[in-house]
Amino acid sequence: MHVSNLLLPLLTLSVTAPAAVSALHINPHHKKALSTLTTNQQAKRDGSVPSTHKNKVKRLVKKKKRGTCQVKFNATSVATEPTASSTSAEVLPTLTNNENWANATASATQTWGDNTASASASASASSTSSAGNSQSTSSWSKVEEWSGDSFFDNVNFWEWNDPTHGTVDYLNRGDAWNSGLISINANKRAVMAVDTTQVVSGGRKSIRIHGNRIYTGGLIIMDAYHMPTGCGTWPAWWSNGPNWPEGGEIDIFEGVNDFGQNQVSLHTGNGCTMPNNMNDNQVGQLTTGGYDSYNCASYATSNQGCGVRDEVTQNAYGESFNAIGGGVYATRWSKAGITVWFFPRTNIPSDITNDSPEPSGWGKPMAHFPSDNCNPYQFFYDHFNIFDTTLCGDWAGADGVWNYAGYAGQSQSCASKTGYATCADYVLNQGSAFAEAFWEVSYVKYFNSTTEV
Ligand SMILES: *[C@@H]1O[C@H](CO)[C@@H](O)[C@H](O)[C@H]1NC(C)=O
Ligand SMILES: *[C@@H]1O[C@H](CO)[C@@H](O)[C@H](O)[C@H]1NC(C)=O
Ligand SMILES: *[C@@H]1O[C@H](CO)[C@@H](O)[C@H](O)[C@H]1NC(C)=O
Repeated sequence: MHVSNLLLPLLTLSVTAPAAVSALHINPHHKKALSTLTTNQQAKRDGSVPSTHKNKVKRLVKKKKRGTCQVKFNATSVATEPTASSTSAEVLPTLTNNENWANATASATQTWGDNTASASASASASSTSSAGNSQSTSSWSKVEEWSGDSFFDNVNFWEWNDPTHGTVDYLNRGDAWNSGLISINANKRAVMAVDTTQVVSGGRKSIRIHGNRIYTGGLIIMDAYHMPTGCGTWPAWWSNGPNWPEGGEIDIFEGVNDFGQNQVSLHTGNGCTMPNNMNDNQVGQLTTGGYDSYNCASYATSNQGCGVRDEVTQNAYGESFNAIGGGVYATRWSKAGITVWFFPRTNIPSDITNDSPEPSGWGKPMAHFPSDNCNPYQFFYDHFNIFDTTLCGDWAGADGVWNYAGYAGQSQSCASKTGYATCADYVLNQGSAFAEAFWEVSYVKYFNSTTEV
């Protein structure tokens, strides 16, 4: 969840972060009218069997686990000032990521196996290649799955201020179910939507969830049929460790506004760098910016980190992703490094479908961050996954981004497309424009390996 390098002034940050901390103890008022989706919009999300919906909602509301999310902000971790290059053609989504300032873990409500090993696993030398073993039986075994009716039982809801300053009002679990913003549709997929009430004030209702599973290494496979799209949106599927940036951040599936290309990024503490031949081993290419793109360290790069944008793969992000029924993002965090593949719906390997993944046969990945000069168990640890849809905020809403076109597959600026001078005005006044701003997720699966991790 990186952000543009249009960082807020330090003063603003120092004011904002403590406010967010105290908000942890406040139960925000969520008393506004329910979403006013049209029947068609609702049907699209729900499938054709809305009759069972209400019972399901009630059941799941009962299961709500309050008081388990102990996320805290690290208000002392402040980024440097923005640079002049931030409005240029290289609108680098360099983060500010206040969530990054989140000294945060969604505190696990359950215990999962042995978490004690592997922190000392050494980075394997050789692997700028994505190749793994070639045996016919997968060395990865499934250790957890989020899907179907219990999908949301695996997560906590972030119900406080958006750390990235979006024009959103994040709902807690109960309000999210009761307002219809989250649901399990007829195809047993988890839906996370944005309120489409035409005019709202303050922020538009949306969802941000943090997974309960804390992991260090593994293979995480996420299958989505639909992602949030459109001007004003900034959706992301990503993971984060504690004490940002020391625990590292892996942005897997992310973009803003009308982007048509995905960008994968790492943000780390000092010392993690990428080799010069990195681009040879991935489909995407390192982004270039005002800082050394091979340096993943946040503080040294004004939070740019190392980002890989994929200009080649079709249907990997945005409207074209949705048009084909999405696909699968697979992230392998192993001795070889951190590697992300995307498979469009029609090209998902059967070993993924069969729950016996064989990354060695998946071909060149979208992004591969090798372990050569970046030990993936030193710069990354104790991650939890996050889905969110924020609106505007530090990246999508930055003036230079709202007014810009010609980047990441977006041909017209949102200012020109919407007729609104600011992202926030558009978001607050044009709710009907957010009917496509929803996630529809089939599953998230965690695999582990005793040989690769
Ligand atoms: C906050 O983050 C900074 C920078 O990583 C770190 O030096 C500091 O110890 C952190 N503070 C807390 C309370 O975690
Ligand atoms: C935040 O960081 C401090 C300092 O490193 C640590 O002691 C504390 O446990 C962390 N809290 C959380 C919730 O991660
Ligand atoms: C895999 O196992 C290791 C060692 O027990 C653990 O640290 C890690 O979190 C596990 N990864 C996943 C995805 O469960």
